Amino acid sequence: MLLLPAASSRCYAVIYSFSISGCYEIRPVGRPIGPGKRRCCGPRATGAVPVGFNLASELSDLNPHKDAKLLLSDRFFNILAVDDDEGLQDIYKDILESAPVNIAAPVGAGQSECIEAPCFRVTCRSQAKETVAVVRESVAQGEPFAAVFLDVNLPPGPSGIWAAGEILRIDPAVNIVLVTGYIGSELGNLPRQLTFSDRLMFLQKPFHPQEIVQFASALSAKWSAERQVRSLNANLEGLVRRRTAELQDSNEMLRREVDRRCQVQQELQQSLDRLRKIIGGAVMAIAMTVEKRDPYTSGHQQRVAALSCAIGKEMGLSSDRVEGLTIASAIHDIGKISLPAEILTKPSQLNRMEMGLVQAHAQAGYEILHNVDFPWPVADIVLQHHERMNGTGYPQHLMGDAILKEARIVSVADVVETMSSHRPYRPARGLDSALGEISAQRGILYDADAVDSCLTLMQEGRFEFASPVFA
Ligand SMILES: [Fe+2]
Ligand SMILES: [Fe+2]
Repeated sequence: MLLLPAASSRCYAVIYSFSISGCYEIRPVGRPIGPGKRRCCGPRATGAVPVGFNLASELSDLNPHKDAKLLLSDRFFNILAVDDDEGLQDIYKDILESAPVNIAAPVGAGQSECIEAPCFRVTCRSQAKETVAVVRESVAQGEPFAAVFLDVNLPPGPSGIWAAGEILRIDPAVNIVLVTGYIGSELGNLPRQLTFSDRLMFLQKPFHPQEIVQFASALSAKWSAERQVRSLNANLEGLVRRRTAELQDSNEMLRREVDRRCQVQQELQQSLDRLRKIIGGAVMAIAMTVEKRDPYTSGHQQRVAALSCAIGKEMGLSSDRVEGLTIASAIHDIGKISLPAEILTKPSQLNRMEMGLVQAHAQAGYEILHNVDFPWPVADIVLQHHERMNGTGYPQHLMGDAILKEARIVSVADVVETMSSHRPYRPARGLDSALGEISAQRGILYDADAVDSCLTLMQEGRFEFASPVFA
């Protein structure tokens, strides 16, 4: 608590008390009634000092004979003095406009220097309504009052208490000092919102000039600090709004970019689908070209492709691998295009030389396909489709896992379809005979998983060759 001693025994002193949390209290105390005794009167005004504003340090130098030091960026403060006594109006002007105040004026970043200079501009009015009008005008012009010294009795018009309520409604930031010779009796007429307002203080007449300077200095310092805080808050809010707008713009750009990429991805997928259809069409055309030369095996590759596809799915291959498997199996005998038609259609058993030429179709197929940039190992599947698990196949005599899984599947489907169908040199052996062959050679010549899957599909009736097999 800081006790400002009264300037004389006839004047009232003011107590300013402060807490660490920044709360302040300003209240008038009573007239000295004896050594060390005062009669208290008037309500207390309390509130919170803005962050960064240390009213205690600002007022620590105060004494009745020295002006307050104001650590402020404002150079002048507008003070409104209202009293129906024109003589008192002159006194207000004389006191405030002539008294130099010790000001800590900013001179650079975080720097200030103390100067002594008048810092109050005083406007005087004598009636409540014209007081309210001048406050409204000051706010409209952007030059609001920091403090108002307001006489309570302003005959013949409304009272100062009415004017205080109107002033705070127009300018909630202003500080009002109600000046009266009858504080006790006036309190009962105070509206509730004014009773608890931290903008309202009391000073009892007759006052000492120094009290006016002290009130004006302290309240101007408080008003200025609060205004700076409001300005900082407004700047901060503006910054937050700008950053929010920038973030929203960034989000919108990102959203557009995501949409654009989704569209590109969709277009790529459509291109890929079209490309796969083209590949499929080209493969079918190639297969048909081969089979046109060999009417007895017409449809063989398509049926092998259908069974290979079903076995691949049954074995749990990915859809992509199944697609490659289907393409490769549809043209697995493409190498036969290099065989003379007489061999392809020969109605009797082939001799050793003819058999050698026929077996060369796997390598011939590889030679045709290996430069084609398929997304699957089509050429290798075609090359290996006559390899056997025990190494007795051709052309490379590969064994077990050295043979591509897709090639092992094609070999099972190829054998089943071939044995089930008619050939120029022999009649069809039938599906049961074909399934018996792969069962007997399960794990020996043929991949065990591929055989099991094929048998499951056939036994459960989940697959049948689409086009009729020659009986
Ligand atoms: Fe073949
Ligand atoms: Fe074949």
